[in-house]
Amino acid sequence: MSFITRTLRRVAVMAPLTLLATVLAGCSGEYPQTTFQPVTEFGARINEVYSGIFMWTMLILTIVLVVLAYVLIRFRDRPGAEPRMTYGNNLAEIGWTLGPAIIVVLILVPTVRTIFYTYEPAPEDALVVEAVGHQWWWEFRYPELGVTTANELILPVDRPVEIRLSSADVIHNWWVPRLGGKRYNHPVAAMASGRPEATNYRRLSFTIEEPGEYLGQCAEFCGESHALMRMLVNAVEPREFDAWVDRMRSAASFTVPEGVPAPGVQPAAQTAQTSLEARGYQVFLQSGCAACHSIAGTPFMGRLGPDLTTIGDRWSIGAGTLDNTPENMARWIRNSPGIKPGSKMLTFPNISEEDMTALVAYLSSLK
Ligand code: CUA
Repeated sequence: MSFITRTLRRVAVMAPLTLLATVLAGCSGEYPQTTFQPVTEFGARINEVYSGIFMWTMLILTIVLVVLAYVLIRFRDRPGAEPRMTYGNNLAEIGWTLGPAIIVVLILVPTVRTIFYTYEPAPEDALVVEAVGHQWWWEFRYPELGVTTANELILPVDRPVEIRLSSADVIHNWWVPRLGGKRYNHPVAAMASGRPEATNYRRLSFTIEEPGEYLGQCAEFCGESHALMRMLVNAVEPREFDAWVDRMRSAASFTVPEGVPAPGVQPAAQTAQTSLEARGYQVFLQSGCAACHSIAGTPFMGRLGPDLTTIGDRWSIGAGTLDNTPENMARWIRNSPGIKPGSKMLTFPNISEEDMTALVAYLSSLK
C-alpha cells in the first residue's frame, strides 16, 4: 500500500470522527452568553432572522453540493468521451437569476422589519437606565429613582426598559446576548454635570420575560482591558426590584458602622472598642478612597470610579475580573493595575495587613 493510499484511508476514518467530536462538543457545557436562548422579544426577533438566514444558506449549500456531486460523477473523465456543451439556455439563466433574487427578497423583508422593530421607541412607562461606559467598567444610573450602581444591573421582569447608552471616554458597546441587540456607547452623549442635558443617547428598549442572571460585555475594542469590561444583568420580579430600590434610596440602609466617631471627634478620644467594619471605614476615609468612590449613606461621594454601595453583594470585582472574595478584594485594592492592565485605580501597597482586613470587612459588609 502506498503512502498516499494509507494517508487517505487514515483521513477517511479520522475526518468523520473529528467532525462528530466537534459537533458533539457544541452540545456540552453552559453558554451564559448564547444568543440562542433569548429572554426578550427583541432577542427572539433577532434570533428568528438568524435562523431564517441560516436555513436558506443550508438549503443553498445542500443544492450546490448535490449538483456538484452529480456533475463530478456524471461528467467524470472517460477516455474518448467529450461532455456535451450547452450555450445560451434561457430557462437555466432565468432560473439561476430569479431563484437567488427571490431568496434575497425572502431574507431582506424579515431583516428590514426586524431592524425597524429594534429601533422602535420605548413606551412611556418604560424604566429608564443610563448605561455609561468607562475604561473599563459600567456605570448604571436610574435617573428617575435617584439610584446609581456599577457593573451589576438590577432590572425588573415584565416591565419595558429603556437603556440610554453613552460613554465617559472612548467608544464602548453594550452587549448582553440573551437580552438581544448590541449597540454603541458614544462619548458624545456623556456631558459633564452643569452642561445642557444630553439628548443624543443611543437607545435600546426591551422587556425581560424571565428572571435570571444574564452576562454581557463590552463589544467594541476600547483599550487594553476591553476583555475585562463585563457586566451582569440581574432580572428580578417587580416586587423584589421595588424592594431593592427602596433599600438603595434609604440612607438608613447604609449607615456608617457603629463605633465611627462623629465628625470633628478625634479617634483618640474614643474609648469604646470599635468594630472591624468601623476600623475599615476609617481606613477607607484615610486612604483617600472617597476621592473616586461613592457609598450611599456616607459622606463618600467620589464619581471617578465605580459606586461601591452594594459592593459586598456583587458577583465580581473589577467588572468581571475576579470572583468577589475577601482575598481577591485585598489583592485588588493593593494593586489593581497588576491584575487588570491599565486599571485607573491607584495602588495601595502600604496599607497594613490589619488595616486591609478591616477595609475588606467593611466593603464586604456593604450589601
Ligand atoms: Cu469598553 Cu470594550
